[in-house]
Amino acid sequence: MLLDRSFRRTLIARLLLSAGPSTAAALLIAAPGCGEPETAETADAAETADIRCFEWFEELGACLDREQALEEFWTIHPFCESEEEILSVESDATQRDGACCYEVIVQEAGPCAVGRPFTLEGRRRTAAPRPAEAGWLARGSAKSTGPGGMRPSLAHLTDEERETLAEGWLRSALEEHASVASFARFALDLMAHGAPSSLVEAAHIAALDEVGHARLGFSLASAYRGAPVGPAAFPMPPAIPVAADLVALARAVAEEGCVGETVAALVAAEQRARAEDPAVRAALEAIADDEARHAELAWLTVAWAIGAGGEPVRRAVAGVFEAAAESLRRPPPAEADAEAPRGRPAALAAHGHLAGADLRALSRAALAQVVLPCALSLGLWKPRAAAAAVAPAVSA
Ligand SMILES: [Fe+2]
Ligand SMILES: [Fe+2]
Repeated sequence: MLLDRSFRRTLIARLLLSAGPSTAAALLIAAPGCGEPETAETADAAETADIRCFEWFEELGACLDREQALEEFWTIHPFCESEEEILSVESDATQRDGACCYEVIVQEAGPCAVGRPFTLEGRRRTAAPRPAEAGWLARGSAKSTGPGGMRPSLAHLTDEERETLAEGWLRSALEEHASVASFARFALDLMAHGAPSSLVEAAHIAALDEVGHARLGFSLASAYRGAPVGPAAFPMPPAIPVAADLVALARAVAEEGCVGETVAALVAAEQRARAEDPAVRAALEAIADDEARHAELAWLTVAWAIGAGGEPVRRAVAGVFEAAAESLRRPPPAEADAEAPRGRPAALAAHGHLAGADLRALSRAALAQVVLPCALSLGLWKPRAAAAAVAPAVSA
């Protein structure tokens, strides 16, 4: 599964840089950049050296350099679609028989989640949809832009496709709406544990971003539906617990932000790349850019929490990435019983809607190509290592 390459590269760079400020210095010792070779001392016992090749044509010129080759291997063999993961490229290329071959470090391969959920007692919560609710539509003249304040072109769509798009965008809008609550709680968590003002400020800005995403989603859903739809009251309990300690805070941020929002940013970028309708592309453009910033905030928060809380926090974070890696090691779910698409896939993709199987594959690719390589490079996780064994390998 291919991810939008330039967005992926930019996001990787941003994630690595975001974790670099002074509060994260202890975390980032010698972080070499996603996917670059590990040192001998940190190599995992399950890793082996071998030769791997990919097809190459002389007309394309010289073989790729090591860094480009690693990216090519990730593209060809992401965790989700291969029994092995290539961790690093250790030699320059040897061109032979229409292929470029490299000495590489490999290991057996091994998820997939999306967005910043509001979780309570282990359960994700969203509001119910409320028909005729116009209070969450994007700003603008409903008269000039349609019932949702957005005006995607409905021409050439069948009734079934409009219904599919209305349902898909509504589901997404309800999740974005829940993210508003999630960031509001996150801001309280940060306050409760002495986070710097920059993180608290960024959390509040992110909550406002999510208000915008929800508006865009409800607006598009309303446009495809032909009538306004918004959220009912959010199912908020009378008391909202804040994270008990830095370990709990960091674990949640790693799960929901480092994994969830990084995946969400990459999935949104891919949806944007496949979308053709201008209104949909504009919405996904804004969402993908904001989600990338939210992902940066998560990685920066984890760095701060480890700096403040030490080894227990580091182990908790490593456990999250190990769980993500473990989910990748399991084969992807069988798609045989997947629902038949309700509409033409290309027409739906042109309006930002991807099939469930596509989303799952994209999520797995995002984990394999961005989340786990970044966690590895930042010393936050080691493949197949027990969480407790991670810390000594990267401690100063
Ligand atoms: Fe969002
Ligand atoms: Fe977000």
